Amino acid sequence: MDDRAGEPREVDLSTPNVARMYDYYLGGKDNFAADREAAEKALEFAPQIRLAAQQNRAFMGRAVRHLAETGTRQFLDVGTGLPTQNNVHEVAQRVAPDARVVYVDNDPVVLTHGRAILGGAQNVDIVQADMRHPEEILDDPEVRKRLDFDQPIAILLLAIVHFLPDTDDPEAVVARFRDALPPGGHLVLSHVCGDALPESVPGVTEVYRHSTMPIVARTPDRIRGFFGDLELLEPGVVNVAQWRPDSVETRRIADKYRRPYFLAGVARKA
Ligand SMILES: C[S@@+](CC[C@H](N)C(=O)[O-])C[C@H]1O[C@@H](n2cnc3c(N)ncnc32)[C@H](O)[C@@H]1O
Repeated sequence: MDDRAGEPREVDLSTPNVARMYDYYLGGKDNFAADREAAEKALEFAPQIRLAAQQNRAFMGRAVRHLAETGTRQFLDVGTGLPTQNNVHEVAQRVAPDARVVYVDNDPVVLTHGRAILGGAQNVDIVQADMRHPEEILDDPEVRKRLDFDQPIAILLLAIVHFLPDTDDPEAVVARFRDALPPGGHLVLSHVCGDALPESVPGVTEVYRHSTMPIVARTPDRIRGFFGDLELLEPGVVNVAQWRPDSVETRRIADKYRRPYFLAGVARKA
C-alpha cells in the first residue's frame, strides 16, 4: 500500500502506473495493458483528460521557452514523467544551448527510460528523489553540481502536486521549493482542477486509487495558493491552454474550455 503513496519500488506491469497512463494520453508507446485499461476508464469519466494532458505539455513548452528567452538558464523539473517530445532541455536549449536541466522523479520506470533517452544530452542530469522530501532534492549533490541556486532558476512542478494527498501537506512541500528560489527565480506549476466537470471527479479519483499514485483535484483557490506571495506573470493562474496561447488551435481550445479543468501559472520571486 505504501507504494501508492508515491514510492514505487520496482517495475510492476500489473498496476496502472501514472507516468505510463500519462504517456498513453499523450499518444506515446511506453505503456502496457494495465496502464491503457486504467487510462481508458479515466477517459470514460472525463474524455477531456487527453486534451488536458496535451495542453499541459504545450503549456510547459511555452513557459520554458518564455523563461529561456528572458534569461533563465537553469531548470529543475520535479516529476518529469517519461521522456516524450519537447522535453524541457530540448525547449530550453533551442533558445539557449547552454541551458542546464535536472530532471527529478521518484518512479524507477521513469528513471530507466530517462537515463536511456536523455543519457547523451548535454548539461542534463536525471535524479531519483521524492518531492515529498524537498531537502533531499535541493541538497542532492548532482542537483547542486549542475544548478546554482544563487542564479536565476526555474522550478517546474507540472502535473505532480495533484499526486500529493493532503496528508502529505502539499502547501508546505511547495512552499519549501518556493523558498529555495533566488530573487528573479520562477515557479512553474500546473494542477488538475475538477471544477469544470465535478461529476467526473469521483470516477477518475477511483481509477487512480488503484494506480501507483492517488490523484487529488483541487479548487482554483488552493491551486493559486501554491504560488504564495510570488508575482504571477500575466495572465495569472488559468487553464493550461489560456496561458499565452501561441497558435490558432490553442486559442480555439482556450476559448472553448473556459471553466477550470487544469490550471497553470508562472510566478517570479521579486
Ligand atoms: C503526469 S506525470 C507529469 C510529467 C510532466 N511533469 C508533465 O507535466 O508533462 C507526473 C510525474 O510525477 C511523478 N511523481 C508523482 N509523485 C511524485 C513524487 N512524490 N516525487 C517525485 N515524482 C513524483 C510521477 O512518477 C510522474 O512521472
